[in-house]
Amino acid sequence: KMNLRIAIDGPAAAGKSTVAKIVAGRLSYLYIDTGAMYRSLTYKALNKGVALTDEDALKEVLDATVIELQPTDGGQIVLVDGTDVTDEIRQANVTNSVSHVAVHSKVREEMVSRQQQLAREGGVVMDGRDIGTHVIPDAEVKIFLLASVEERAERRHSENLRKGFPSDLEKLKEEIALRDKIDSEREVAPLKKAEDAIEIDTTSLSINEVVQEIMKQVERIG
Ligand code: C5P
Repeated sequence: KMNLRIAIDGPAAAGKSTVAKIVAGRLSYLYIDTGAMYRSLTYKALNKGVALTDEDALKEVLDATVIELQPTDGGQIVLVDGTDVTDEIRQANVTNSVSHVAVHSKVREEMVSRQQQLAREGGVVMDGRDIGTHVIPDAEVKIFLLASVEERAERRHSENLRKGFPSDLEKLKEEIALRDKIDSEREVAPLKKAEDAIEIDTTSLSINEVVQEIMKQVERIG
């Protein structure tokens, strides 16, 4: 088994983490959710009352923060300074603030450096927005996952209902579109398909079909 590096990028709620976890499981690779790292910083900054526009203050918080991604079977636990924040970082206040934290170059530099450390030895599936373009530009496999805003909002909506969370489909559409806009229009490392990434539009594909398509790319290399 080769220790490949697999980069999976794409807009919000495109199913990146779902397929990344499955692919990592099949290959016995480490799954690294870089969005969880930005969410962790956002969670801590919100708790501390740090302004999301204050780049230096956010960087200071990040420098004093230990973020750990612990694999569990089929999932992942996120620890911030030793405390389990797995559920907290998925809440609406964090989700709707995280893109504002992720615009700052000092924050991104530090995140990218931590992520590069994690990917150093290969055997990783890493998902995010800038993995194929900035974090691991020489990744052996690069995937860019797409789906329409409607489809992504509907998937998130059914997931919420299934979990018994309150959910408003129209609001989800707006939030997803806004997050994509901020992520795509920021100056530093915007969301963008790497030139050599394979684009997969998942709008009318099942999870299994997407996984198979990625495994096909992996097998071509390995
Ligand atoms: O992937 P997820 O939706 O959890 O990411 C949350 C947010 O973190 C994104 O909307 C984006 O603002 C930021 N992010 C980023 N670069 C990454 C991963 C996430 O800017 N590599």
